[in-house]
Amino acid sequence: MTDGETQSRHRELVNIIRRHDYAYYVQAVPAVSDHEYDRLYKELIYLERRFPAYITPDSPTQRVGGLPSEGFKTVVHTLPMMSLDNTYSQDELIAFIHRVQKLLPEEELIWTVEPKVDGVAVSLRYEEGELVYGATRGDGATGDDITSNLRTLRSIPLQLDSSSVPIPRVIEVRGEVFMTRAGFLRLNNRRLDEGEEPFANPRNATAGSLKMLDPKIVAQRPLDIVIYGLGQIEAAGNSFPNKQIELLAYFQNIGFQGPAKVWTCHHAKSLGDVLNELDALRHDLDYETDGAVIKLDDISLRDRIGATAKAPRWAIAYKFAAEQAETRLKKIFIQVGRTGALTPVAELEPVLVSGSTVSRATLHNEDEIKRKDIRVGDAVVIEKAGEIIPAVVCVILEKRSRNSTAFVFPSVCPECESVAVKQESSGVIGVVWRCPNLSCPAQIRGRLEHWCSRKAMDIEGGGSALIEQLVAKALVEDVADLYSLSHEQIVSLERMADKSAENFLEGVQESQSRDLWRVLFGLGILHVGAGVAKKLARHFETIRDLMRSNVDALIALDEVGETIAHSLVNWFSKERNQMLIDRLEGLGLSMKSSLYVEDSEHPLSGCSWVLTGTLPNLSRQQATEKIEAIGGKVTGSVSKKTSFVLAGESAGSKLQKAQKLGVQIVDEAGFTALLDQNA
Ligand code: IVH
Repeated sequence: MTDGETQSRHRELVNIIRRHDYAYYVQAVPAVSDHEYDRLYKELIYLERRFPAYITPDSPTQRVGGLPSEGFKTVVHTLPMMSLDNTYSQDELIAFIHRVQKLLPEEELIWTVEPKVDGVAVSLRYEEGELVYGATRGDGATGDDITSNLRTLRSIPLQLDSSSVPIPRVIEVRGEVFMTRAGFLRLNNRRLDEGEEPFANPRNATAGSLKMLDPKIVAQRPLDIVIYGLGQIEAAGNSFPNKQIELLAYFQNIGFQGPAKVWTCHHAKSLGDVLNELDALRHDLDYETDGAVIKLDDISLRDRIGATAKAPRWAIAYKFAAEQAETRLKKIFIQVGRTGALTPVAELEPVLVSGSTVSRATLHNEDEIKRKDIRVGDAVVIEKAGEIIPAVVCVILEKRSRNSTAFVFPSVCPECESVAVKQESSGVIGVVWRCPNLSCPAQIRGRLEHWCSRKAMDIEGGGSALIEQLVAKALVEDVADLYSLSHEQIVSLERMADKSAENFLEGVQESQSRDLWRVLFGLGILHVGAGVAKKLARHFETIRDLMRSNVDALIALDEVGETIAHSLVNWFSKERNQMLIDRLEGLGLSMKSSLYVEDSEHPLSGCSWVLTGTLPNLSRQQATEKIEAIGGKVTGSVSKKTSFVLAGESAGSKLQKAQKLGVQIVDEAGFTALLDQNA
């Protein structure tokens, strides 16, 4: 290729990948297979490595670029980012509609109703169609420049699509960044696995993610955006939309995702029905909404009535009351996690919220207790939204007893009485108190339970009841001790019949041949969840190979960042841990990786698989392991992007969907043959 041809191929690839990103992330109808997408992406990377001069800021490779910043720059909003007046009452909503009608007596008003997404408001500025910056609302007048973080969201186009509509020279769009419920749960599970504090709800997780200084980490967070409004525009032309409904359609045309559903109301009377419809529907949306935003549809009428100092007069937020209940806080106790984190938990008088009885709520950390001034004996309001951990919203001060005293967070671990410490990370002192004593019985129990858990070494019977007794009787102190337990020792414990003891010991023995990734995950190394462990096990055949590696080599691996690399090297550098590995090896644990792939890639690597029905010989777990061993991934639902469906007996709707979409279907024999052919 000549230089000119290479450059035009580069532009072509940028455009094709951008179109595919839009189809996948905004329209949710992928236009190509994962494989084809990866091929195009790899070609782009290859071209850019050879000709770095061709890299343009709108290249998809530049979404996750740059180094972590020291802090965020401030952006002055060209038009203030206002908030909205709120109401929880339909009467107040009707009063609002009448107020606006009074200001515009001649007009027949039309209202649009959109779900109020519970996320973080941002403004995105485009000049000549190109994203120049993205910012948080901040105080409304100035916000933080979080461009490098926002660029990692695939549903934010780096370049607007001008193929069907003209684009103003300057256009600012405003919207809400959010995290889907499923993404939030996955993230929190991973954080728990990795010994980190879970987020309280998807909004906090979103806000926390956008505040991070390293865009590479932000890129791994399941963030998404809806666009619902306009900021500054310059040189818009006469044909620019003048109605909210048209504006939302325009946003879609230039590459954005809009609200999940929009209603148009001609009469205040019909608003009630719309709100009820939204309230019923919103629980099925895959992200949290806390109400509705009611807006005057006609944009020129909005300009006529303007805004107060705080909020526009032409819109209002109607909020659905979150399910709350009042109860009494009986006690605050401190839970000690396997990483030593001391988490305060409220023990409550049991109360019914959102259909389930709640008797505990997390208080997160000492700062949270101080901020809300939560005390033992207080009457408290608790809230439970969806599947999220119940939280104490506030204290009812009028009901506080006169002799109540502020809660004093213990300065020592309640389990072993070691003096609690706060950890520092990148110069910032954390909010979490930790017990520094690695021999703390609570930490030992946590580590052992984690090792035995189904997602780690999968040892039958190794649940909390047994572990608690083993630790209390000092029969085990670390995970290696499990491998020298005798039958007599186990049956001597309470509620341990012969058979259960046998099963447990068999489980322990079986676990000796578990795959390397399970061992790595089971060891509970900070930041090493099951996903990271599997990635490591693809590159290292044995634990010794991994131990010989170093920070630079680890960072060079796909998806292993600095935090994980340092955590691993730090863990393996400790004599105590090295001795543990020596002992485990001596006790017969193989710690070898079946996921290990030598540098040459498997022909079926990158394929996505869906399993359905019962296979004659292979369990789901075994089939998954085989797929992962050749670099494939198993997903839960069939889409156009699925490469293969592996179907067994009594396969259901997934099989039908695969047939409808024309996805290749194989049975167990076909699967084995496919692996053999490509071995
Ligand atoms: S319109 C002048 N539309 O809710 C502000 N806001 O309580 C116009 N929000 O600040 C905002 N979904 O952060 C609008 N469909 C939607 C929204 C929405 C969520 C947020 C936004 C706003 C807050 C108001």
